[in-house]
Amino acid sequence: MAVSIEFTSGFTDDNMVLRIRSGGGESLLQAVVPDPALRKGICRFMATVELKEVSKIYPGGVRAVNRINLAIKDREFVVLVGPSGCGKTTTLRMVAGLEEISEGTLSIDGRIVNDIAPKDRDIAMVFQNYALYPHMSVYKNMAFSLQLRRRELGLTKQLIDQRVRQAAAILGLTDYLQRKPKALSGGQRQRVAVGRAIVRNPKAFLFDEPLSNLDAKLRVETRSEIKKLHLRLQTTTIYVTHDQEEAMTLGDRIVVMKDGLIQQCAPPLEVYEHPVNQFVASFVGTPPMNFIAGNIDNERNFVCGDQTLLLPDKLTKGLGGNYHGPMVLGIRPEVLSLANEGRFAGVKNSLHGMVSVIEPLGDKADIYFTLPNQPPMVCRTETHHLAGIHLQAPATFYVAMEKCHLFDPAGRNLSSAISARVTD
Ligand SMILES: Nc1ncnc2c1ncn2[C@@H]1O[C@H](COP(=O)(O)OP(=O)(O)OP(=O)(O)O)[C@@H](O)[C@H]1O
Ligand SMILES: [Mg+2]
Repeated sequence: MAVSIEFTSGFTDDNMVLRIRSGGGESLLQAVVPDPALRKGICRFMATVELKEVSKIYPGGVRAVNRINLAIKDREFVVLVGPSGCGKTTTLRMVAGLEEISEGTLSIDGRIVNDIAPKDRDIAMVFQNYALYPHMSVYKNMAFSLQLRRRELGLTKQLIDQRVRQAAAILGLTDYLQRKPKALSGGQRQRVAVGRAIVRNPKAFLFDEPLSNLDAKLRVETRSEIKKLHLRLQTTTIYVTHDQEEAMTLGDRIVVMKDGLIQQCAPPLEVYEHPVNQFVASFVGTPPMNFIAGNIDNERNFVCGDQTLLLPDKLTKGLGGNYHGPMVLGIRPEVLSLANEGRFAGVKNSLHGMVSVIEPLGDKADIYFTLPNQPPMVCRTETHHLAGIHLQAPATFYVAMEKCHLFDPAGRNLSSAISARVTD
């Protein structure tokens, strides 16, 4: 039986009215929602953020962000990732309204907000250097921005108290509300900074490297807290990091940037498995993808020095007619296997190298090896396969050719079905 639910005349002062229709019947449901921001929250069906041809040109002509297009869906968690200076913070600050947009339009919920003041954008940002007020308790730190704008936001003291306590419960800070920041650990302080954003009940969260001041263990813990928080609150989120692992674990989609340009925007696994170009391939994955410079011969073999690999059709489908010439073969460390493993054994798919470093990682190990005139390569294997592998000794590695990538001299991935979508 079809059931439809719709809002009727919207809100009365304190009430929300829903009309529920099922079959021939109809009923009205009236709910009392005392918190105006919460009413707004319930009424808010969408919190989309869209950048169209957005650029930032700093005084002096630095083009920090160059005509980027990005449509972020309601409830989506999007991560901007890329090397230092690629324009991540600038993009986020433009969304927050802290940086003027030089060209293009920014829309929130379909409304162009280029000229709207930050405080009126209904967006909360958590910075890398979240400065908590040292003389205020955790409670006061979280309540402060709401108390300042209490009248404007139509909040009572009780409602502010309710929101702070709710946020503290979500973040596991209930027992710390009376403490000063100096009596908290780094991770707890970080959670207070997130709490300050949560109490505002914003349309979207913006995070700029919020975990970079934390040690490695705390980073991983807080990262999973942020993920849980998003699952719970479902607030549209834009998150900036230069850590590709953080990006891969957090994002519904990740946006890889370089030199102010978006290189690729896709779900993490798609970026990993189908990087559109050599930059994205090298940026995403640890250890990074190996690259071998070589040539395609007339028989569609990949030749590098005296080693020859047979290219499967999957890799060469993007090659024009009878192309032969320079190319770069991309091989992820896990698609190489040691000859004694017996995995990937095939025809013309082995590389003969010289082992330079062996790094045991527990159940896995990384074997670094060299081919003549190529940058060092790395093979990730299971530790129990290391028998027979010795430093400064030759070793044979099988390549799962179907899982490799072929990059043209401009760095485009010819083996990726998606590469046709690249604009450069
Ligand atoms: N106020 C400014 N005036 C001029 N140039 C600036 C200004 N702020 C940033 N830039 C330049 O804009 C580019 C992008 O800077 P941005 O801070 O957005 O990079 P980022 O990707 O956040 O880097 P990081 O990972 O180091 O934080 C850089 O080349 C930077 O030097
Ligand atoms: Mg930055």
